[in-house]
Amino acid sequence: MIKNVGIIGGGTMGSGIAQVAATAGCTVKLYDTRREALEKAEAALDKILSRLIEKGRIDTAEKTRIQNNIQYVDSLKPLEDSHLTIEAIVENLDVKKKVFQELEAYVSEDTIIASNTSSLSIASIASSLQKPTRCVGIHFFNPAPLMKLVEVIPAIQTSEDVLATAITTIDSWGKVVAVAKDTPGFIVNRVARPFYGEALRIYEEGIADFATIDWALKTLGGFRMGPFELMDFIGNDVNYTVTETVFEAFYYDPRYKPAFTQKRFSEAGYLGRKTGKGYYEYGEGVSKPEPNQDDALGQLIFDRILVMLINEAADALFLNVATAKDIDNAMTKGVNYPKGLLAWADERGIDWCVSKLDALYNEYHEDRYRCSPLLRRMNGENRTFF
Ligand code: NAI
Repeated sequence: MIKNVGIIGGGTMGSGIAQVAATAGCTVKLYDTRREALEKAEAALDKILSRLIEKGRIDTAEKTRIQNNIQYVDSLKPLEDSHLTIEAIVENLDVKKKVFQELEAYVSEDTIIASNTSSLSIASIASSLQKPTRCVGIHFFNPAPLMKLVEVIPAIQTSEDVLATAITTIDSWGKVVAVAKDTPGFIVNRVARPFYGEALRIYEEGIADFATIDWALKTLGGFRMGPFELMDFIGNDVNYTVTETVFEAFYYDPRYKPAFTQKRFSEAGYLGRKTGKGYYEYGEGVSKPEPNQDDALGQLIFDRILVMLINEAADALFLNVATAKDIDNAMTKGVNYPKGLLAWADERGIDWCVSKLDALYNEYHEDRYRCSPLLRRMNGENRTFF
């Protein structure tokens, strides 16, 4: 049973994960090298919990209980009695490896050592440990207390027991677990790429402007935010870096090729909401440009992005990155898609997906539009995903 949890790194993710574990009744020690980070995390939690009281979601006793479950520590040693540690420090392999080696000297033989990394391989992180079988990826989404999904990623070294305990623990914290293979982007950051990439491509071809593409995805697709709104929200620098990292990690597969448009926006400092300007302008009294509400154009845009997303989801299944259920859960619970992509493929028809992708491939002759062998095979066998 996991009772004592050590969190390493008290930034955006570490502090959110600490809140989740403390709320679930674990005794949490949150460690950061910077005192200011710990003070900020403690103050932020106080504010979040007070807001939950105002909304009537928790009472003051619950707030005190959660707060009392977290200790803020400025060295690794107090984490020695942890049953599970989750690391959420800078995304740098050498720094993570060093921390893992130091940590392993303090904790017991049975302590599970997990990383919240978004882009590094769990195998490479595990290799820094004397006992790599105890290492596993536990990947939360931002904000951790609100997003339901957690990807659990066994490395090739991870033992069955460690994987099983990680799954049961995260499940008992009220999260939806999707188990993913240790491959670039795991599930969500791989399957979601065309949402941004194909939208940028459609813009670059001059088919439609940002507002029209966003309108199509929201109105016809039911997405909460359009791709450009979402990139502005995430930050063009952050989103571009994820795309570039995934592209490189896939040995430059053209399916993941980043777009110059986003690179230039990033270089210009048009990062989105956080800089007041991205694909849109933000600030008092600034109104958004009007979309071209042409139904046929909107449908064309939505269908093209949707089929590219479906292709990515199908290919992830084809390559055994995760089960069909976990792939669909990952997108609905991790990034709030209105429907699972494989369920969407069933609804549209596998034949529709294949013919749409083949039409794109025939038009462009680019490898990025190649249809996943799984979709083609299923079409031939008249099968559906569910
Ligand atoms: P952040 O920059 O908000 O927080 C990182 C914290 O780690 C800082 O407070 C820093 O002082 C601390 N730190 C740095 N080196 C340390 C060390 N050697 N020992 C102890 N503490 C150290 O970063 P964020 O966004 O929380 O990301 C952390 C990890 O989570 C990264 O691996 C990132 O890829 C991953 N992640 C981030 C998501 C996001 O949306 N921000 C989503 C999912 C995963």
